[in-house]
Amino acid sequence: MARLLMCRPTYYNIEYEINPWMSRARGAVAPVAQAQWENLYRTLTERVGAQIELVEPVPGLPDLVFTANAGLVKGTKVILSRFRFPVRSPEEPVFAAWFKAHGFEVLELPEGLFFEGAGDALRCGEHLFAGYHFRSEIRSHAAIAEMLGERVLSLQLVDPRYYHLDTCFCPLTGGKLIYYPAAFDAYARRVIEQYVPERIEVSPEDAARFGCNAVCVDNHVVLSTGCTKLTHELSGWGFQVHAVNLSEYLKSGGSAKCLTLRLD
Ligand code: ARG
Repeated sequence: MARLLMCRPTYYNIEYEINPWMSRARGAVAPVAQAQWENLYRTLTERVGAQIELVEPVPGLPDLVFTANAGLVKGTKVILSRFRFPVRSPEEPVFAAWFKAHGFEVLELPEGLFFEGAGDALRCGEHLFAGYHFRSEIRSHAAIAEMLGERVLSLQLVDPRYYHLDTCFCPLTGGKLIYYPAAFDAYARRVIEQYVPERIEVSPEDAARFGCNAVCVDNHVVLSTGCTKLTHELSGWGFQVHAVNLSEYLKSGGSAKCLTLRLD
């Protein structure tokens, strides 16, 4: 059974601007954000059959809902994130405490290396890919490779709208991948083509609706509403697609995948 970490959006809002989607002038509508989150939660538990663990919301930490950025989990170990922007740094001890209380061994990166967890590091088949540039830095990849004892394939992100790897790259069951090629530099695109034979290229429209920020569990894919072309292609590959409206989270530059962290 898939186990995911989530955080209720009790204190969620757009309180600062650290990516091009965020504007303090366009705040989140709290009751709508809450209903959308509950709908995602129900979809994951009831339709996908995932088990959800919850971290307590904390006042003053609006982005704590984006649990994908808590760290990178491997077995019972987790490499704790070190956030690029000081506004998110206070999330680090909150996630560290949750992991420790739930039996994880918490590993810390050497001082001064930015790395934003599963937002920027994803397994596709047997390969571990990691994004860098806007948030995580490439020097963190060598540290991760050493800490986990495995190879990391580094991918440079070039479009500020797709600032985390999980905004433009989504591994699916069976080693397949959906991704938005224009978010990567030419070399990263070559690496992806070399290592992942079965790929769906997402259109600019579906990418901008956060279609790549999907949660895939077995043959289920949960993603933002409105990704028509992508939904059609995923169905063609035999996936069962569940569309959820996450408009309030798009305002923060996030969607389904960012709101979850795979724990198993
Ligand atoms: N507002 C958050 C930020 O800019 C959104 C994080 C989305 N998380 C993700 N894994 N893509 O940090």
